[in-house]
Amino acid sequence: MIRAVYPGSFDPVHNGHLDVIQRAARIFDHLTVAVLHNPLKPTTLFGIEERLAMVRGAIDGMSNVEASMFEGLLVDFCRQLDAQVIVRGLRAISDYEAELQVAHLNRQMLPGVETLFIMTATRWSFVSSTRIKEIAQLGADVAKLVPRPSNEGLVARFGPPRVHD
Ligand code: PNS
Repeated sequence: MIRAVYPGSFDPVHNGHLDVIQRAARIFDHLTVAVLHNPLKPTTLFGIEERLAMVRGAIDGMSNVEASMFEGLLVDFCRQLDAQVIVRGLRAISDYEAELQVAHLNRQMLPGVETLFIMTATRWSFVSSTRIKEIAQLGADVAKLVPRPSNEGLVARFGPPRVHD
């Protein structure tokens, strides 16, 4: 039984995340999408309950995937879940350096857990939560880039799109 954790801020979850979730769910017996709750540094647009609800809406019907929030160190959460693998998506070489550092630190703290990278599908390689929030706030329609619950959350926050693709 291999349990994996896919951590992130998911502010909000987008189609690139969902692609990684679907592919990881085919490899591992169980996948927990771990949504970071950082009460000391609340820099996210959406609160933890909203981000969690969006992820839960996006993974609806996926039998071996669940979503939870976590606080503190990711490795502590992996210990709690008895997870052996951390999954991260890699879009481009620009993601690599930071991911490498974090993967090494996590392995130093918890040698039993392995970080595995899934290369984001080409069609989503340009998608990031930061850019999605930026263009949605400026009136763009991001419905094709995010799962429905995220789109609903963005429309509720910024209003309906003015620019359609
Ligand atoms: O989607 P993000 O913001 O790139 O995700 C970053 C995340 C949540 C995976 C990372 O910040 C994290 O694991 N935070 C928890 C604290 C921790 O354990 N940091 C890693 C050791 S340096």
